[in-house]
Amino acid sequence: MLSISVEEFLSWKKKQLSKGGDYQSFAFLIDCIGGISNSHLNLLKINPVGDLYIKKNLDYLGSIWEDHLLSSTPIQYLCGITFWRDLKLKVTDKVLIPRPETELIVDIVFEIFGKNSQKLFFAELGTGSGAISIALALAYPLWEGIATDIDQDALEIATENFIDSSEQSNLRFYCGNWWTPFESFKGKLDLVISNPPYIPGDIYEKLPEEVKKFEPKLALMGGYDGLKHIREIIQKAPLFLRDKGWLILENHFDQGNKVKELLTNNGFTLVEIVKDLSGVGRFTIGRYK
Ligand SMILES: C[S@@+](CC[C@H](N)C(=O)[O-])C[C@H]1O[C@@H](n2cnc3c(N)ncnc32)[C@H](O)[C@@H]1O
Repeated sequence: MLSISVEEFLSWKKKQLSKGGDYQSFAFLIDCIGGISNSHLNLLKINPVGDLYIKKNLDYLGSIWEDHLLSSTPIQYLCGITFWRDLKLKVTDKVLIPRPETELIVDIVFEIFGKNSQKLFFAELGTGSGAISIALALAYPLWEGIATDIDQDALEIATENFIDSSEQSNLRFYCGNWWTPFESFKGKLDLVISNPPYIPGDIYEKLPEEVKKFEPKLALMGGYDGLKHIREIIQKAPLFLRDKGWLILENHFDQGNKVKELLTNNGFTLVEIVKDLSGVGRFTIGRYK
């Protein structure tokens, strides 16, 4: 820990922000690498006196900020971590940075199963950093979970994140294409969750440069209409779900009705589009009979 005066820190902060970038990313950097939380930063604004302790020197923090501004690399990749729900997760450019809107998937599970559910078997398809599965495994220690990804590098990060977040052993990771690694679990799953790649080809091309340049295309592109992977997941889901097992999918803001139709046509009941906090139909859920 290094000690510097609050006055010096605030003047350095003003200079960094005048170079560009958004305050949220700057606060993220100061919290993750500098060790000064957002609430502490706000307090300093109200009472800008005395000294403060910081984990890294200002030159080092400034060089990361400069790198972020010059290269547009997401600050989470430069810091190597992100926060999601109450988890602190390692992220590299091998995994999508889990988005805040996806956090609601866990609340949908709470809504369906309650918070004190007994033993149950769940799977996540396309786990990336492991965020969803880890949150569920921690929230439900009696549940057993399995999670896949086609990318072995992503699975290594997910595994590391699980080990770092918990001493539990109720989550296992498998590498492979969607349902392929789960052959031996046919008819056994009570719940399947997936936030698959669902961006339509033409929309992908219009995504911000920092997303296209740094986040894995494999995690985002869902074929020409965005539904390529969602179709495959839904069509095979009846083979793997138990009777009355649930499928919860995240989709693009305008895909809800199509996903609903796919679920209904494949034998699902209680099919529903669930809105995210901005009122967008971000999730589609259904029960297999
Ligand atoms: C939108 S990301 C979601 C990651 C994470 N679950 C989250 O919500 O942040 C989709 C994930 O699906 C994986 N994926 C893409 N194609 C796949 C496939 N054919 N089989 C299994 N996983 C796949 C990607 O590697 C990526 O990690």
